[in-house]
Amino acid sequence: MPPDPADPARVEVPTRDWRDDARFAAQFVRAPVATASVWPSSSALARAVADAALGPEGAPPADGVPSPRPPGGGAGGPVVVELGAGSGAFTHELARRLGGRGRHLAVELNPALAHRLAERLPAVEVVPADVAELPTLLAVRGLPSTGGVDVVVSGLGWSATRPGRDDSLLPVVASTLARGGVLVQFGYTFTRWAAPARALERELRELFGEVTTTPTVWRNLPPAIVHRAAHPART
Ligand SMILES: C[S@@+](CC[C@H](N)C(=O)[O-])C[C@H]1O[C@@H](n2cnc3c(N)ncnc32)[C@H](O)[C@@H]1O
Repeated sequence: MPPDPADPARVEVPTRDWRDDARFAAQFVRAPVATASVWPSSSALARAVADAALGPEGAPPADGVPSPRPPGGGAGGPVVVELGAGSGAFTHELARRLGGRGRHLAVELNPALAHRLAERLPAVEVVPADVAELPTLLAVRGLPSTGGVDVVVSGLGWSATRPGRDDSLLPVVASTLARGGVLVQFGYTFTRWAAPARALERELRELFGEVTTTPTVWRNLPPAIVHRAAHPART
């Protein structure tokens, strides 16, 4: 069940602050390859990502997002792990919808962005680290290093995901997911036919039983799509 907005135990989440968008843009100037986009994702894209991750608001939980789900998720909710949270475009929307249910981890490499996110959203476990260490990051937080995450939301660019390469992050991410878990990854429509984007879609289909892609979300700069990969194949 989605959290009841009238529930007194529900965690309040502040709305996005435009100054954090400006901070993100400043970090792009500092580290363009790792930051991977000039401006953070829009609220429209964040809603599409959260719909793919947790199911549309007001609807029963999406296929593959069991709820309630002990033991990883506290308070009877899912374990949600965000990769490359940036200034929190997706983090705010996911945290608002979770309302304090379950566990919500947000991994971010850039220490300035991670620090600011932790300040803004104390209900989220912000992890200032490299996603390459994902299984260890989960284990030190008392979660299984494989098979224990319900939802991974990736805001990473190609430089961190490395689709189609021997050191691709995608098999690692798939291995962290519970049976029936879901990976949500966004991409830009205008680069969809570039080699890394095609490699990413190919790898998702190899690693997951079901892959769907939304229509273009035009209210984002640049316009974007959202891939939802469910049912990780077990090797
Ligand atoms: C394209 S931005 C997306 C940010 C945010 N999710 C959004 O949609 O606005 C990618 C983010 O991933 C972070 N990042 C890049 N490489 C990373 C890595 N190896 N580990 C963790 N975060 C990383 C960057 O610092 C940046 O904040």
